[in-house]
Amino acid sequence: MNLELSEEQSAVRQLARDFVEREIAPHVVAWDRAEEVDRSIVKKLGEVGFLGLTVDEEYGGSGGDHLAYCLVTEELGRGDSSVRGIVSVSLGLVAKTIAAWGDEEQKRRWLPGLTSGEYVGCFGLTEPGTGSDAGNLSTRAVRDGDDYVINGTKMFITNGTWADVVLLFARSTDAPGHKGVSAFLVPTDTPGLSRRTIHGKLGLRGQATAEVVLEDVRVPASAMLAPEGKGFSVAMSALAKGRMSVAAGCVGIAQAALDAAVKYAGEREQFGKTIAHHQLVQELISDIALDVDAARLLTWRVADLIDRGQPFTVESSKAKLFASEAAVRAANNALQVFGGYGYIDEYPAGKLLRDARVMTLYEGTSQIQKLVIGRALTGVSAF
Ligand code: CAA
Repeated sequence: MNLELSEEQSAVRQLARDFVEREIAPHVVAWDRAEEVDRSIVKKLGEVGFLGLTVDEEYGGSGGDHLAYCLVTEELGRGDSSVRGIVSVSLGLVAKTIAAWGDEEQKRRWLPGLTSGEYVGCFGLTEPGTGSDAGNLSTRAVRDGDDYVINGTKMFITNGTWADVVLLFARSTDAPGHKGVSAFLVPTDTPGLSRRTIHGKLGLRGQATAEVVLEDVRVPASAMLAPEGKGFSVAMSALAKGRMSVAAGCVGIAQAALDAAVKYAGEREQFGKTIAHHQLVQELISDIALDVDAARLLTWRVADLIDRGQPFTVESSKAKLFASEAAVRAANNALQVFGGYGYIDEYPAGKLLRDARVMTLYEGTSQIQKLVIGRALTGVSAF
């Protein structure tokens, strides 16, 4: 694995840094307080090519490898996790999954819009009653002539309020457990589909998270993505790459925590000198720095494996597990460096901590990642 970035990778990282400085940083506090990112950011993300990374140019994508994708998600995560989530879901979980599993018509129908930012995608797997046990979902799709009629409720759906298309997982046969699950591409303007924005989140406040309700939603059979009964494989393959993207976003949070802590420690004076002189503050900063490096290396390894066509699912779980826990630790340590000022939102540490906290929960909890890793090592499944 080569740790030196290519010219293209360095350029895309710089592009992302400039984008964050210009389009995100000035608004972060206001968006967080308003519980809404300005929706125009989606178009801007599309224009600069960030919603098309790794997708073929013939479908409107901007190409690039998975390390470039990680570099961009890291920088966006450093700026605002709510914005990073738009890319990780609309591109990472939806567009990339259509590119991998879709037929020609589905790719032409959805990819140009998703990669340009004209459309937003969301990933409809979680339900009120099924989170970790995703294969046990209860949304139903019943065949009716040339159509499927779908009923069910999806919960905690990132981008749900804004989405133009839901990559939806529903039970379409009586086969047991995950084997009865199929995937569908459901336009959100289909009659019977409604959504409710979820407010009051601890973090990711700017993100359009919603409950999505489907009541007799009728879609043609051609809306099915991948063969019938393969929906759970579609979901798992999407999440295997998605977890890398979350990990990269967490590296961004930890890096932001480090930058903020170092800067503040060099300015704040106590006991007649800047607090950077105090060894226990240096310990906090050193702990953050170690978490940043270790999380980044684990994440880059996943990108390297994907780009070389090697298996990466377990490594992705390791990266997501470590990086998400590291982001929480790093933000918490940064808050400690800031002292009382860390507890108010004029300083960044509090928001970083609130945003980091969900990373150990979504796209598979830390406990699920441990069971995935444990299963691979022991050959014994806990599920
Ligand atoms: N690629 C393709 N297929 C895959 C795959 C991959 N990476 N991983 C698994 N599969 C396939 C398997 O081959 C198997 O297929 P067959 O039955 O045809 O053989 C099928 O998927 C089931 O695989 P497993 O036996 O590994 O599945 P399991 O039932 O043991 O999985 C689990 C259990 C790992 C706990 C899984 O349910 C899981 O990951 N749960 C967590 C759910 C989760 O992460 N939810 C996140 C919600 S989405 C979200 O948060 C998005 C957002 O908005 C931010």
